[in-house]
Amino acid sequence: MSPRRLYLDNAATSFPKPPGVTEAMVRYATELGASAGRGAYREAVETGSLITECRRRLNRLFNGQNPDHFIFTLNCSDGLNLAIKGLIDPREQSHAICTQIDHNSILRPLRAMEEYGWIETTRAPIDPGTGLVYPDDIRRAIRPDTRLIALTHASNVTGTLQPIREIGRIAREAGVPLVVDAAQSAGHVPIDLQADGIDLLAAPGHKALLGPLGTGFLYIRAGLETQLRPLKEGGTGSISEQDRQPDFMPDRFEPGSHNAIGIAGLSEGVRWILQQGIEKLAAHDLDLVRTFLDGISDIEGLTCYGPQGVKNRVGVFSIRIDGYAPHELSAILASSYGILTRSGIHCAPLAHEAIGTASTGGTTRFSFGPFVTKQDVKFATDALAQIASTRAPVA
Ligand SMILES: Cc1ncc(COP(=O)(O)O)c(C=O)c1O
Repeated sequence: MSPRRLYLDNAATSFPKPPGVTEAMVRYATELGASAGRGAYREAVETGSLITECRRRLNRLFNGQNPDHFIFTLNCSDGLNLAIKGLIDPREQSHAICTQIDHNSILRPLRAMEEYGWIETTRAPIDPGTGLVYPDDIRRAIRPDTRLIALTHASNVTGTLQPIREIGRIAREAGVPLVVDAAQSAGHVPIDLQADGIDLLAAPGHKALLGPLGTGFLYIRAGLETQLRPLKEGGTGSISEQDRQPDFMPDRFEPGSHNAIGIAGLSEGVRWILQQGIEKLAAHDLDLVRTFLDGISDIEGLTCYGPQGVKNRVGVFSIRIDGYAPHELSAILASSYGILTRSGIHCAPLAHEAIGTASTGGTTRFSFGPFVTKQDVKFATDALAQIASTRAPVA
């Protein structure tokens, strides 16, 4: 009998997906199979409607201003690249603000533009205990030439959930666009684009939105699209008589044929979330957080990073156990218990520097999803207790 497989790496990509996701993808592949906007026949029109419906569902889930302002992307990094690079005019010297907790999908586009000599960047510090950003540091870092503030809403290392509304207010008062990386928050916690003051929101479709890999989106606040430089041009199926990129949404930012099969799956994932209710899913996530924190509270030699209570966090945990290197711990969890986790630096080098784990191999990460149960989490914390009680020397 193959060992039980408990997937706790939902921060990388979610698994399993609701059954409707696969069904929608199979239906597209077997019944439609056309490219949206590229034909007047039924299948192409229906594919177009399917894509439009996905935008509508995203607009409902995030309280956006207009479905056409959700641009489909390959993943979250793709959306963040468009948001961050699109706001910078290389012909003038600019300044950008990000934070130490950010993922490389924010840090690296900024670093690249620094190296081209286009921008200067301020990397705001975080509290090493909680992983929280200090909003006043963001306020103080704003300069007359600041073109964007970028922030990871929920950390993929510590699970820390940042005070996005407060930072949104600071950005709005200063008239600086706020770019939010919602890779670990979209589908986990409620996000209200209008109330939170978010100008640009990037999210993967394949994590908590429960779509397949190869999907994601960037939301662009109405009015900002003219300030945002498209990074790619190409065919859109619209105003084909012109060799200039359309300036209307969403075509301005969506050259090339869509990932219709992926969007079919994503749309179903979002429908499932809307049907369940995001508040209910967030409450389930918090239940798992509580179960995990209770389960590890008495384990000697275990360090858990980030917020130590249910406040300001999502169900993403970084831990270390004395005597085990993070990759060793992940390997034991997989081979002896069938528990799948991720070890290392998690594409967030400055976050690990801040919490003090950069030079020792990072951490072992557990991340939950809507189909993970409290019993699953208890099984994982019992496994950690057993492993910690048979302490091994670090290799
Ligand atoms: C916080 C954060 N931002 C961005 C990304 C990048 O997402 P994607 O792989 O969809 O580009 C990830 C992925 O792990 C993430 O955790």
